[in-house]
Amino acid sequence: MIEYKREIAQLLSKEISELDDHEILEMVEIPPDSKMGDYAFPCFRLAKLFRKAPPLIAEEIAGKLHSELFGKIENTNGYINFFMDKAILMEDVLKDVHKKGQEYGKTDIGKGQKVIVEFSSVNIAKPFHIGHIRSTVIGSALNNIYKFLGYETVSINHLGDYGTQFGKLIVAYKLWGDKETIENDPIPELLRIYVKFHEEAEEKPELDDEARGWFLKLENGDKEAVELWQWFRDVSLKEFNRVYDMLGIQFDSFAGESFYSDKMPEVLEKIREKGIMKKSDGAEIVDLEPFGMPPALITKKDGSSLYITRDLAAAIYRKNHYDFYKNIYVVGSQQNLHFQQWRKIIELMGYDWADDCVHVPFGMVSLEEGTMSTRKGRVVFLEDVLKKAVAKTKDIIIEKNVNADIVEEIARQVGIGAVIFQELSNNRIKDYIFSWEKTLSFEGETGPYVQYTHARASSVLRNAEQKLKTDVNYNILSEDSAFELCKLIYAFPQVVMEAAEKYEPSVITRHITDIAQAFNKFYHDRHILVDDHEIQEARVLLVYAAKQVLSNGLTLLGIEAPERM
Ligand code: ARG
Repeated sequence: MIEYKREIAQLLSKEISELDDHEILEMVEIPPDSKMGDYAFPCFRLAKLFRKAPPLIAEEIAGKLHSELFGKIENTNGYINFFMDKAILMEDVLKDVHKKGQEYGKTDIGKGQKVIVEFSSVNIAKPFHIGHIRSTVIGSALNNIYKFLGYETVSINHLGDYGTQFGKLIVAYKLWGDKETIENDPIPELLRIYVKFHEEAEEKPELDDEARGWFLKLENGDKEAVELWQWFRDVSLKEFNRVYDMLGIQFDSFAGESFYSDKMPEVLEKIREKGIMKKSDGAEIVDLEPFGMPPALITKKDGSSLYITRDLAAAIYRKNHYDFYKNIYVVGSQQNLHFQQWRKIIELMGYDWADDCVHVPFGMVSLEEGTMSTRKGRVVFLEDVLKKAVAKTKDIIIEKNVNADIVEEIARQVGIGAVIFQELSNNRIKDYIFSWEKTLSFEGETGPYVQYTHARASSVLRNAEQKLKTDVNYNILSEDSAFELCKLIYAFPQVVMEAAEKYEPSVITRHITDIAQAFNKFYHDRHILVDDHEIQEARVLLVYAAKQVLSNGLTLLGIEAPERM
């Protein structure tokens, strides 16, 4: 497609020899109001160089610029304003979307480079709750986005499947657990005995010693400990996979914390070698005070490893195994300090790839009744949220007399899509309070709205009963609503890049919402299916392009784009 900013910079560079092309390019803006042009170039910085007032400079330069790409080039108040030729833009964009289809917006800038996206990373034997949805859907969207930009991606679920809590769980199971109950519905039962353990241990601290003992046995490969642990892991993962299936999310690897248990000694050796490890009360720490952080505890008194130690091992393993270009961690902002300490240690160990490890934090989810607490039973299960969203969608569409054969399928696509879309609507860093009402409200700028717009466009295309063609009369699409829609479609590839650079899928969510709104305005303004073939052909092509971009955007977010609703 035509790179308008570049074209403008080229035009200008002939007139402004004092600045280099790159500087000029960086100065080209998109005005907040398109009445001031589709692009603008401010001349204020030129005042010194030209020894003239900016409005005068703008006037002089504007008078010399000519390009068929722009219907009009004007100056106002020190700006040069560029107005695109609508038909040229329209033809360029619609042909490109038509040619590329599902690949519109795709690039190969990432070719030959690996990006690891670690996300979800839930804890075994604990509920998969609404607090986990953010990492899960933000991570999955980022994984899709990087893949779309040509990177080879590796999605990793760094399961919380190791640590002293498994010692506790083993003790609890041996005392109060029931095999059959766990087989039938593992998470609530595992949670019950885990909570019981904590209650009992307050009175009987010897339980904690026992738990530590079992964890050490586990670390040393004791058969019984490993078997029990493996079983807890298997039954939990089966539960989690049901939710991942509902969300349509897959992982390339489930290498969680336990995967690194045998890789620890080497890492510890390396840290000691670097001379950054200190003994402290029988434990080992890395002093991070010079960097304004509390010390990081690396090994405990009894020699057992810690969360951060496993994260160090994981990063090193990933570098050796995948040779990543970027290693991304989508983990809540509560762990900011952990990731700062961890990255500092990687740096201190002398690894030059420390900066390629990126923590992508996000805000916390709490409930109306307070912060979530699994131990206090204050928790909303993600599976329940998804199921309720699907059930509610079903009620709504049954009222609308949708063809009974496809009700289930659409309810699933729209219900799940609504939850994901909402999650990806706000800047990830914002905290929020989960509310059933908000999650199940489909009014306004929601996933169902965008999906519905997609279905509406699909229906127009079905009813048009014509083959798409690109040798249409583009001058027909000269109305403002068509032009605004086209500009948004044109911007889509740039928006995808921005989402990747900022690790912010919500940029795409908002952009496709804008496209849906612009489409609906156009649809409202103009009849698409008309007797005049020439007019219909042109409008149908624009409808097709809008539909395709909505679909591409939804797909990147991990949301299905139904053809009918
Ligand atoms: N399982 C951890 C938790 O629930 C999150 C793991 C994040 N990933 C990591 N590499 N530390 O808090």
